[in-house]
Amino acid sequence: MSGSLVRLIYASTATFKANEKGGVEVAVGQILSESRRNNKRQRVGGVLHYGNGYFFQCLEGEREAVDACYNRISEDDRHRDVQCLSYVEIDSRMFPDWSMKYLPVEDEITRLLKHYNTDFNPYRFSNAMLMELLKACARGHEPEATRQTAADQTPAPKRPFWKRLFGKS
Ligand SMILES: Cc1cc2nc3c(=O)[nH]c(=O)nc-3n(C[C@H](O)[C@H](O)[C@H](O)COP(=O)(O)O)c2cc1C
Repeated sequence: MSGSLVRLIYASTATFKANEKGGVEVAVGQILSESRRNNKRQRVGGVLHYGNGYFFQCLEGEREAVDACYNRISEDDRHRDVQCLSYVEIDSRMFPDWSMKYLPVEDEITRLLKHYNTDFNPYRFSNAMLMELLKACARGHEPEATRQTAADQTPAPKRPFWKRLFGKS
C-alpha cells in the first residue's frame, strides 16, 4: 500500500440504550475489539469517543483503507445519522498506532467543552474545536479498562524449546 494519507472525522448517534450504571458500554467494548483487529491489518489508526449517546471518531490511514473502513462503519446499525465532519489529506498521523484509541468524555475533553461552553454534541463542533479536540485526544491517556487486552495483541514469537531450557539467547 502506498496511497496518500488521509484523516476522516465523523459524528454519529448510538442506537443502543445507555448503560445506566455508567462505565464502558458492552457494545463499545465490542466495537473496540473489532476495530483493533481490523485496523491493525489495514494500518488504520485513530481515536473513538462515546459520550451523551454520541460517537465521535477519527480515522487515519491510506485513502483506500480509510474509505473502506468508513463505508463499513456507515452501514453498521449500532449507530445512525453518520455524518462526515472533515476529510483531509495529511502529511503525518496524529495517532501513529495502527489501532483505535478509546477515550471517554472526561478530563481534558471536559475542560475543552467547558471552554467552548458546550456539552458533548460532535455534530455541532466547529472546525477549530475539532482540531483542538483531536490534539486533546492525542495527549490523553486511555483508561486501563479499555486498553488492548492480551487477545488483541499479536503474541511475541516463542523461543525454541532448547534455547529456553539452556537459557541461550
Ligand atoms: C461507532 C463505530 C465505530 C467503529 N469503528 C470501526 C473501526 O475503526 N474499524 C473497523 O474495522 N470497524 C469499526 N466498526 C465496526 C464496523 O462497523 C464493522 O462492524 C466491522 O468493521 C466488521 O468487521 P468484520 O467484517 O471483521 O466482522 C465501528 C462500528 C461503530 C458502530
